[in-house]
Amino acid sequence: MSNVAPPAAGRTHEFTTKSGADTVEVGRKLVRLLAPPQLMILRGDLGTGKTTLVKGIAQALDAAEPDEVTSPTFSLIHEYDGELDGKPVKLFHLDVYRLEGERQLESLGLDELLTPDALVLVEWGEKFKSIRKKATGEIAITAMGGDARRITVTLKD
Ligand SMILES: Nc1ncnc2c1ncn2[C@@H]1O[C@H](COP(=O)(O)OP(=O)(O)OP(=O)(O)O)[C@@H](O)[C@H]1O
Ligand SMILES: [Mg+2]
Repeated sequence: MSNVAPPAAGRTHEFTTKSGADTVEVGRKLVRLLAPPQLMILRGDLGTGKTTLVKGIAQALDAAEPDEVTSPTFSLIHEYDGELDGKPVKLFHLDVYRLEGERQLESLGLDELLTPDALVLVEWGEKFKSIRKKATGEIAITAMGGDARRITVTLKD
């Protein structure tokens, strides 16, 4: 499956990486851009490194170690408690790849997750119009050949 939705408009920040470890490090860095509340779509083809990026984000928030962050493919949602600049952050990592239709999505209760201290990261969120509407931005990961990736963070105005 490829990503068909047009990219979101807004402020952008670009990073390039050459390995999974690099992408974890970029995750640690870009967490600064993601002060809650935030609902970010994580967009990129299968296996480009969306979950890998979340490992770095979770680590920087002191929410989980990289090896504790696994793909929420079947559980759909993983929740971690962390903090940014001394303020508590609820990190929610979702993967909606397997969900079919807005009705299945509704049962996830996405709206209830988006509290003032929430950082919600949704892999494959661009599949759903309702998520595209609610999203405060997106992080797109593009494969550039071999292990190289371009990571573009876009925050809506
Ligand atoms: N530059 C890179 N950035 C991220 N991951 C990389 C990079 N180079 C190689 N990899 C490897 O690619 C894989 C990415 O897997 P990951 O589960 O993070 O992808 P994903 O985008 O979440 O996939 P899915 O859509 O299936 O959930 C990992 O095995 C990782 O080590
Ligand atoms: Mg993943």
